[in-house]
Amino acid sequence: MRKKITVIGAGHVGEVTAFKIAEKELGDVILLDIIEDMPIGKGLDMLEGGPVGKYDTSIRGTNSYADTANSDIVVITAGIPRKPGMSRDELVGTNFGIVKSVTENVIEYSPNAILLVVSNPLDAMVYTAFKVSGFPKNKVFGMAGILDTTRFRAFISMELNVSVENIQAMVLGGHGDTMVPIARYTTVAGIPLTHFLPQERIDAIIDRTRKGGGEIVKYLKTGSAYYAPSLAVTEMVESVVKDKKKILPCAAYLEGEYGINDLYFGVPIKLGINGVEEIIKLDLTDEEKEAIKNSEAAVRNVIDLLKF
Ligand code: NAI
Ligand code: 2OP
Repeated sequence: MRKKITVIGAGHVGEVTAFKIAEKELGDVILLDIIEDMPIGKGLDMLEGGPVGKYDTSIRGTNSYADTANSDIVVITAGIPRKPGMSRDELVGTNFGIVKSVTENVIEYSPNAILLVVSNPLDAMVYTAFKVSGFPKNKVFGMAGILDTTRFRAFISMELNVSVENIQAMVLGGHGDTMVPIARYTTVAGIPLTHFLPQERIDAIIDRTRKGGGEIVKYLKTGSAYYAPSLAVTEMVESVVKDKKKILPCAAYLEGEYGINDLYFGVPIKLGINGVEEIIKLDLTDEEKEAIKNSEAAVRNVIDLLKF
């Protein structure tokens, strides 16, 4: 049976995500926003592209949660993006209220859905959706690690002038400037990155990756990245609906893994039809463990601001 996939928030990330899901025929799509009529227009525009784009997907925009009823997956992109000079964490005041009310509405109509959160500050917003929904931890997770990893991969490919497809990488930790790209688990056609680059070049690429979101905000001025983020969300949705069981870095709820408790944090997970099917535990060096601790502290600082 075709899956029903709802995207909440029809702004930049929401609309591109809905479009990519439709193009790949991953399921029927509902696109919801609070702005009157806007998602209806965007949904209709995408639907009208079907014959020429060669996708047989039903896409509908709406302002009503009733239309989202019995969704299999709900992607939450509602919320404000940052502007130049802001950190993601500064969005918490506004986006906490938005994600809380969106989650309450979503679960009323789709009590069995999987929730995939995108809104920032990511780790705190997915924690919010988890606490508010009361859903099991395997059914609530967040997108960030794939975005951070694809940036790392893209920068390595530019540096080495090799295909992006050759590069596998791993970025752990919270979705902020304390994220932890792990060069030891990064390979080019299976060959360790250190074979190709001296440590100072690797360090420079890691630094650019950490600041990658801010680099885009600086150029856009009125918002944040949305093409790479939307492709990252689409990869997650695809892994779930096709039960591909891909191992991907995502924000998952930790209960002791990596020495972390009661926190959403970026770790490699196996993503399948049941959502988070396994958390992969990596061996880390003392230096990497220290970087993880630093990132954990940054995420906890934001979580401490949430008032449920
Ligand atoms: P945007 O401003 O283009 O779109 C946000 C949309 O949310 C707007 O259309 C707005 O009307 C809607 N919205 C606001 N309150 C709502 C509510 N209560 N119910 C339904 N819709 C509501 O922003 P953009 O670029 O799409 O980013 C969305 C969020 O995703 C931001 O918080 C951004 O920081 C975050 N983000 C996170 C990424 C990640 O890696 N986790 C990557 C990219 C963006
Ligand atoms: C990014 O890293 C907006 O968090 C998002 O681009």
